[in-house]
Amino acid sequence: MSFSILGTGHAAPEYILSNEELSTMVDTSDEWIRTRTGIHNRRVTTHETTTELCVSASEQALDEAGITAKELDLIICATMKGMYITPSQACVIQKELGASCPAFDVNAACSGFIYAMDVADGFFVRGKIKHALIVAFDNLSNMTDWTDRSTCVLFGDGGGAVVLGEGDGLKSIYLTASGNTDVLYAPRGELTSPFDKHEGEKPVLHMVGQEVYKFAVTNMVRGVRRVVKDAGLEQSQIDHMIPHQANIRIIEAAAAKLDIPHENYVINIGEYGNTSAGCIPIALDEVNKAGRLKKGDYIGMCAFGAGLTTGSCVIQWTK
Ligand code: ACO
Repeated sequence: MSFSILGTGHAAPEYILSNEELSTMVDTSDEWIRTRTGIHNRRVTTHETTTELCVSASEQALDEAGITAKELDLIICATMKGMYITPSQACVIQKELGASCPAFDVNAACSGFIYAMDVADGFFVRGKIKHALIVAFDNLSNMTDWTDRSTCVLFGDGGGAVVLGEGDGLKSIYLTASGNTDVLYAPRGELTSPFDKHEGEKPVLHMVGQEVYKFAVTNMVRGVRRVVKDAGLEQSQIDHMIPHQANIRIIEAAAAKLDIPHENYVINIGEYGNTSAGCIPIALDEVNKAGRLKKGDYIGMCAFGAGLTTGSCVIQWTK
């Protein structure tokens, strides 16, 4: 037996950075950003910490699941950059929640939430756990070159959490990675060793946008086709399709090649931009809180990100 989702939550910083405000910082315009990406606003961290936002999302998910942190058997945080290099962000969250189970991070960039669910699936299948918390959060505003208009308009901060319990909600899941460090990467930054002769690079995101774009469309189509088939379903049976929210044009180009009804796509990129691992759980929590998920509904998810990684899955809503 694998897992079902028992509860969801999400959190994002208060500050809303609009396209208009960005246009005063770099040479861009609301029109360019909206038409090329679908993004209107994004949230950026000012006074909040990654931990506070992760804990807020986790508490919402625990509340809905009706369990306490003490009942968790596993915490996984999907993130590229927690508060510390060590300990893991999952351990920091664990401390704040008062949980006492194994906890560790998974870094698969924007695909991190789906990678974390596949890892959790292994623990459930081996009968090792009854409840798991997955938090997926990235703070991209602290990894962004705010003078580079080709990247800084795309990203935002935020993330979400799910509490998983034993069940048959997970119908199929598929991960890939293709060992590409050229088209999307962020260096670690300054080196501290006086012996190390390498030059530390600025720890900001570098991206060859058009390469990532092509990879994203091809692999979203491939991933969704595969997990829908593995789940024994037709694409028309997917009630809610939650794609990674990187660019509305990527979503539309992939959707044009798939047979999922267009009205079933969950899209919130306009208000959050690309929050990396946070995108899918934020969108999942929004549809859940809006009361749009009915027992038995099939939810498709598909993400792509640095690595280059992809993750796709089909989950049945069992609540
Ligand atoms: N404002 C105004 N003009 C801009 C901006 C901007 N913000 N950014 C780029 N331009 C200009 C370019 O300089 C270029 O000008 P030129 O023709 O004079 O040279 C022109 O606009 C076109 O640039 P392109 O890069 O060709 O624009 P494109 O239509 O490809 O859109 C984008 C760029 C939005 C980045 C697109 O390629 C994309 O979405 N790529 C995928 C991004 C993605 O999914 N990233 C995932 C990251 S996930 C993670 O791991 C964090």
